[in-house]
Amino acid sequence: MATQQVIIIGANSAIAKALSVKFQQQPDVLLTLITRSPEEIKHPTIQTIAINNYDEADIIKAVASVKNTSNLPISGVFVCNGVLHTKNIKPERRLEDFSADAFNYVLSANTVVPLLWLKQLLPLLCEQSLKCTVTVLSARVGSITDNKLGGWYSYRASKTALNMLLKTASIEFKRRAKHVKLISFHPGTTDSALSKPFQKNVAEGKLFTPDFVATQLLSIIEQSTSDNSLSYVDWQGKNIDW
Ligand SMILES: NC(=O)c1ccc[n+]([C@@H]2O[C@H](COP(=O)([O-])OP(=O)(O)OC[C@H]3O[C@@H](n4cnc5c(N)ncnc54)[C@H](OP(=O)(O)O)[C@@H]3O)[C@@H](O)[C@H]2O)c1
Repeated sequence: MATQQVIIIGANSAIAKALSVKFQQQPDVLLTLITRSPEEIKHPTIQTIAINNYDEADIIKAVASVKNTSNLPISGVFVCNGVLHTKNIKPERRLEDFSADAFNYVLSANTVVPLLWLKQLLPLLCEQSLKCTVTVLSARVGSITDNKLGGWYSYRASKTALNMLLKTASIEFKRRAKHVKLISFHPGTTDSALSKPFQKNVAEGKLFTPDFVATQLLSIIEQSTSDNSLSYVDWQGKNIDW
């Protein structure tokens, strides 16, 4: 019987799907998946919440559905949203490629959307005392220290800004939701639609399966403590310089 719930947001992401398989094997977990493509989620017993878009009004409705369906405490939240490229957007190779519209689109998906989820879930998280780990998918390229290659202006900046927002939230959570642990997670290059166009230069053994990444992340979460700080870590659990 379920005693806790886990929420996976952006559940059609390759990494989200691998996480969801892991949680389906845990009978004490009520799993809730939130996605724009619920038809892709084929498992009949998983609770799926369809979202039209990721604007704040839709996020409010989705969180209300979570609240109405169960009052089990939330032990885990995974925010898997992220955009690197679309049909019309390619990561910039040089300054001339930069476009305000593309930047705003990437910033909205990678930075604004995750913070809106935190904002709207906070009241639910404040109501409980169970330890809850909130993992947001970030990326090493958001590290200013690590930026040796340049390029990818919008994606890099969106992840750097995401980290700053999460760091700021972790300071507020220390006061308002001490039992919440925030993790900004770099999965490593993982085989998914997002990395597909950039996989040919990945060194042998460095293109991870979503299943491997999900296993690593769950082990990192298991070892984490509610230390009221944001951890910016990679798939090995190693801290990344900001
Ligand atoms: N794959 C990698 O190599 C890699 C490396 C570093 C970091 N990451 C990060 O890991 C996360 C998951 O990536 P993935 O590789 O699993 O990617 P993916 O399979 O391409 O999944 C994309 C995700 O982004 C959501 N999404 C797509 N367009 C969106 C938009 N306009 N606004 C808001 N959300 C949108 C999708 O939600 P729906 O379920 O609603 O479709 C889905 O959750 C991303 O944050 C990515 O930046 C990935």
